[in-house]
Amino acid sequence: MWSTTLALAALALPLGASAAAVSPDVYPSPPGQGNGRWAGAYASARKLVAQMTLEEKVNVTRGFKTTENVCAGNSGSVPRIGWPGMCLHDAGNGVRATDMVSAWASGLHVGASWDRNLTYQRGVYMAKEFRAKGVNIALGPNAGPLGRTPLGGRNWEGFSVDPYLSGQLNAETITGYQDAGVIANIKVQHFIANEQETYRRPYFGVEAASSNVDDKTLHEYYLWPFMDGVRAGVASVMCSYNRINNTYGCENSKLMNGILKSELAFDGFVMLDWNAQHNLQSANGGLDMVMPYGGSWGDNLTHAVQNGTVKEKRVTDMATRILAAWYLVGQDTPDFRVPGAGMKNLSLPHEPVDARVPASKPVLLDGAVAGHVLVKNVNHSLPFRGKPKMLSVYGYDAAPPPTKNIDTLFQLGYTSSQEMGQAVLGTPRRFDQAARGGTITTGGRAGANAPPYMSDPLSAIQHRAAADGTWVNWDVTSTTPDVNGATEACLVFINAIATEGWDRTGLHDDASDALVLHVAARCARTVVVVHAAGVRLVDRWIDHPNVTATILAHLPGQDSGTALVRLLYGDDNFSGRLPYTVARNESDYPVYEPCGRGADNTTEPQCDYTEGVYLDYRAFDANNVTPRFEFGYGLSYTTFKYSALALSPSGSKSSSSSSSPTSLLRAGSSGGARLWDVVAHVEATVANTGRVAGHEVAQLYVGIPGAPPKQLRGFEKVWLRPGAEVTVRFGLTRRDLSVWDVVRQRWVVQEGRYPVYVGASSRDIRLTGALVIHK
Ligand SMILES: *[C@@H]1O[C@H](CO)[C@@H](O)[C@H](O)[C@H]1NC(C)=O
Ligand SMILES: *[C@@H]1O[C@H](CO)[C@@H](O)[C@H](O)[C@H]1NC(C)=O
Ligand SMILES: *[C@@H]1O[C@H](CO)[C@@H](O)[C@H](O)[C@H]1NC(C)=O
Ligand SMILES: *[C@@H]1O[C@H](CO)[C@@H](O)[C@H](O)[C@H]1NC(C)=O
Ligand SMILES: *[C@@H]1O[C@H](CO)[C@@H](O)[C@H](O)[C@H]1NC(C)=O
Ligand SMILES: *[C@@H]1O[C@H](CO)[C@@H](O)[C@H](O)[C@H]1NC(C)=O
Ligand SMILES: *[C@@H]1O[C@H](CO)[C@@H](O)[C@H](O)[C@H]1NC(C)=O
Ligand SMILES: *[C@@H]1O[C@H](CO)[C@@H](O)[C@H](O)[C@H]1NC(C)=O
Ligand SMILES: *[C@@H]1O[C@H](CO)[C@@H](O)[C@H](O)[C@H]1NC(C)=O
Ligand SMILES: *[C@@H]1O[C@H](CO)[C@@H](O)[C@H](O)[C@H]1NC(C)=O
Ligand SMILES: *[C@@H]1O[C@H](CO)[C@@H](O)[C@H](O)[C@H]1NC(C)=O
Repeated sequence: MWSTTLALAALALPLGASAAAVSPDVYPSPPGQGNGRWAGAYASARKLVAQMTLEEKVNVTRGFKTTENVCAGNSGSVPRIGWPGMCLHDAGNGVRATDMVSAWASGLHVGASWDRNLTYQRGVYMAKEFRAKGVNIALGPNAGPLGRTPLGGRNWEGFSVDPYLSGQLNAETITGYQDAGVIANIKVQHFIANEQETYRRPYFGVEAASSNVDDKTLHEYYLWPFMDGVRAGVASVMCSYNRINNTYGCENSKLMNGILKSELAFDGFVMLDWNAQHNLQSANGGLDMVMPYGGSWGDNLTHAVQNGTVKEKRVTDMATRILAAWYLVGQDTPDFRVPGAGMKNLSLPHEPVDARVPASKPVLLDGAVAGHVLVKNVNHSLPFRGKPKMLSVYGYDAAPPPTKNIDTLFQLGYTSSQEMGQAVLGTPRRFDQAARGGTITTGGRAGANAPPYMSDPLSAIQHRAAADGTWVNWDVTSTTPDVNGATEACLVFINAIATEGWDRTGLHDDASDALVLHVAARCARTVVVVHAAGVRLVDRWIDHPNVTATILAHLPGQDSGTALVRLLYGDDNFSGRLPYTVARNESDYPVYEPCGRGADNTTEPQCDYTEGVYLDYRAFDANNVTPRFEFGYGLSYTTFKYSALALSPSGSKSSSSSSSPTSLLRAGSSGGARLWDVVAHVEATVANTGRVAGHEVAQLYVGIPGAPPKQLRGFEKVWLRPGAEVTVRFGLTRRDLSVWDVVRQRWVVQEGRYPVYVGASSRDIRLTGALVIHK
């Protein structure tokens, strides 16, 4: 059945001199095939494109300036045959730069929920808002940056540093968007390896950083979530600002023509990150659409076809791919006759278009609740029992910011000219790690949007206090507040901000840590809440005996305070798990500083991904470094017991469930659709052994020979009443067990023994078995 294969050495190929890394040419650009779900859309698109002149086809592939709306981009239209064009707009956490929309929990918060259904629901309802505003293409979700460096300024826009978790949640989001009739645009590290903001774009003669990634790492890590996106039918992909092997992402034919359009048989279109085009040749490299204006296309593309530089069939393919996406999600409808109709300039008189759907309220609130991760809770310090007599609230992150802005970036006082300054000066400007102007519910810039209201922690606590008769003390400005000796608990709110355009300067800040220590020295029950746009280290105070509880609250969106209060009082229970590792020290991360930081005057910044797939827990496990809180960790108000691990090859009736279960499979190569076949099943029983209801996130890790000790390959979030139990089932696909064979250019399942772990985190393994794969 499966052809036998040699087990290849699974090592990342170390690159030599990085500036010598090259990306091979792959031409010509493969035309879209219109397979599977795309068939009907391609038929319609081909029919429409057949009626277009060359100029009209070119028009479809580029942007135009307009004062009619504030969409981030507007494609050309084809008035002669009534094709209205499209509005493209930011981004992954809600509709940006407009009014009457919702502000959703950010990507990282969603990642911390480990909840497929909630992620799908969020995608549907968020996309309904884009659609109500007349946005055809939502510029998200973001499968990256995955988080190669924990300092990455945009890590919070994606779901997780783990490619499996990121891939699963990207697929749910894409399905949600497109079910609601909006074209999703997967920004996998903005295709691809767009892992840092430092040297993210070329400025003033300094090139963007080159991510020099070997083929095996690319497939097994950075491309992985993207494969899930393509499989879910994502209709567009955004190529990135950075270079890969010294070739810019949006003219990299190996990536666009080779990997994306040939290997993955992607039938949608590739659009560039704004202004990321460098020359006309990108048309042959596989780029299909330029934004925000004509770039070096427009009339030049028409001319290039006339003089033979670009073949007309390439332009026909571009237009067909774009229009197929439009048909795929059902945009040939009256509500899209005027693209961007609801995206009016807010400074001018306009009839506000309320895009919010009442039915989305529980999804927003549940989503806000689900991404809070409880990491310490001594002696059941939480939830509060009964009605506290007295509570105290401290810290700059407890209260709302004084001004509501449409873009958090400006709230923080950053401007884009400073971003350019970063490249000119070589070293980044140092920004405060914390946003001291008020609580944060999102990170900054393209991934941010304005909330209709902001439920901040202090107001939500006050509201509850009013109902309960609790006395509340607060001080959100002092760094050395007084503490009333009678208080039952002190809540200290700090944060860690991040934004597009800048990488962070550290993972903890002394001023915020000093505030926590000041309160803890005076309050026997100190609850620390950290709103964080990424990893935030806690080692300065986590072992303090008076810090009885700690919540990594991430970026909950508009319902932040309401969600937190529900958790503090036990109306809802903590169910989030870390989608990354919290180290004890910055130096524990396998990659810490962004490439080129501090390298003054370089004009050719290079970034060698020599660590391969050994990032986050894969590296902590392999190097035996003890983290503070490991990937997958999170406490609940109850306890769970795992039992009855069973493994079985797919299709087999018998399963092995002895004390050391083992199941046999055969090795082989695994290309094409069969890559997605489920080849083995893993089952386990999870029981709630505590006294209250709660959620558990059962996690499946597999040890692939020659690869990191454990890699996430399944998760199931279940809710159980006290005493109840459930069987969780994981299906392992051929891809889940494969490695990328660089010689054969395919995925292969190697021979060997594959340990299988089921547990409550990447280090809290409760059940162990193995799959044995033979020739
Ligand atoms: C980058 O270079 C490495 C090392 O030569 C190679 O393995 C990989 O396929 C190249 N990738 C791209 C996208 O050019
Ligand atoms: C191209 O698109 C622009 C903007 O929508 C439109 O004004 C123009 O008429 C279009 N040109 C052609 C040739 O259809
Ligand atoms: C999925 O989430 C929605 C909204 O929260 C909820 O109504 C529905 O019951 C959930 N479905 C499942 C299968 O959990
Ligand atoms: C054609 O290309 C040149 C050089 O890249 C550019 O300056 C010009 O704006 C382009 N024209 C159009 C219509 O896009
Ligand atoms: C063809 O036209 C394009 C766009 O104007 C131009 O950039 C290119 O240099 C031309 N090539 C030749 C061979 O004339
Ligand atoms: C919105 O209108 C104001 C006032 O006319 C103008 O200054 C601003 O540039 C416009 N914004 C956009 C994005 O067009
Ligand atoms: C937790 O409770 C135990 C038993 O009541 C007590 O000895 C211990 O000091 C408590 N720990 C803290 C941190 O309050
Ligand atoms: C804990 O808080 C109490 C005040 O309730 C204080 O007396 C004590 O010194 C604090 N402990 C530490 C280690 O700071
Ligand atoms: C990590 O170690 C360095 C050097 O000892 C120290 O300065 C820093 O504060 C540590 N970080 C944390 C979060 O403790
Ligand atoms: C970078 O260039 C500037 C201006 O030419 C110069 O003043 C500075 O010393 C250089 N820095 C380094 C580290 O070479
Ligand atoms: C949460 O826990 C409380 C007890 O702290 C329990 O009464 C409640 O049923 C639980 N709620 C959910 C939604 O699991």
